[in-house]
Amino acid sequence: MVVSVRPENMKRINTPELAEAFIAEQIKALREQIGNKKVLLALSGGVDSSVVAALLIRAVGDQLTCVHVNHGLLRKGEPEQVIEVFRNQMKANLIYVDAVDRFLDKLAGVSNPETKRKIIGGEFIDVFAEEARKLDGIEFLAQGTIWPDILESEAGIKAHHNAGGLPEDLQFELVEPVRILFKDEVRTVGKALGLPDSMVFRQPFPGPGLGVRCVGAITRDRLEAVRESDAILREEFAKNGLEGKVWQYFTIVPDFKSTGIKDNKRTYDWPVVIRAVNSVDATSATIEEIPYALLGHITGRILSEVKGVNRVLYDLSPKPVATIEWE
Ligand code: XMP
Repeated sequence: MVVSVRPENMKRINTPELAEAFIAEQIKALREQIGNKKVLLALSGGVDSSVVAALLIRAVGDQLTCVHVNHGLLRKGEPEQVIEVFRNQMKANLIYVDAVDRFLDKLAGVSNPETKRKIIGGEFIDVFAEEARKLDGIEFLAQGTIWPDILESEAGIKAHHNAGGLPEDLQFELVEPVRILFKDEVRTVGKALGLPDSMVFRQPFPGPGLGVRCVGAITRDRLEAVRESDAILREEFAKNGLEGKVWQYFTIVPDFKSTGIKDNKRTYDWPVVIRAVNSVDATSATIEEIPYALLGHITGRILSEVKGVNRVLYDLSPKPVATIEWE
């Protein structure tokens, strides 16, 4: 039977044993719900959709088709990791859609943050719907809805996008195997399912991805500066014991330039802003005190390795007054 409401007395899933029990229960429920029919899942590589994919692979194997849309705003190495983990290791039926040009062309010249978000969200649905129409006999749509999503939509805080807002002709029955779980429980289940730590314990990452960190109208070269500087920051945080300690950290490249000097010539390039914050639920955030020497080292790497950049800044603003993201 599919349980859609978290039972009041449900024990927090915080041990491998409890996770295994949940997995066994869900596999049974998923097999009952799905039978021999086909299921579709938009797999972003985030914790929730990855755990849903891993659960469904165990329950119904190749009756599941995963669609991974690369919108060009993912972090360095993310699409490759999704392919490696799900297609190569878990043998999932994975459709990889390279929609990079399509998204970036649509976003060209658009500077308003809300318009950018709407374009990214709308285009995502269009791409996913096109892929769904190419497939025959899909009856179910799996989603990584979790319990806080339900609570927040009930409280009117957040609109819970049921079925991802798919068009009328694509009406599927929903499969939501982690619907009654809190985030920490999803992680415990993901670990028990054998997903890599880099996927299970990863920091929050917004749906519009690097798009909200490439401030203003996105250009490919500035987006590349965001992606490369973010990769350096993540690598250095991992090497220096800050990964898993700091709640969220990333870089931003604003849409303005300043003068600098390189090889005895004047340059006119972008700054990279580093942001590293601690939070419990993202409604407020404090600044991580990164050791100065490490900041200096990261600055040196960014200035020598990232094209088009001549300054590195550290954002000292807590939330409120600032938000965590820059857009
Ligand atoms: P802000 O910038 O509002 O962010 O302080 C709070 C948290 O939410 C994430 N965030 C988003 N997540 N879609 C998402 O899925 C979005 O459009 C979005 N905007 C912000 C942000 O990364 C932070 O963890």
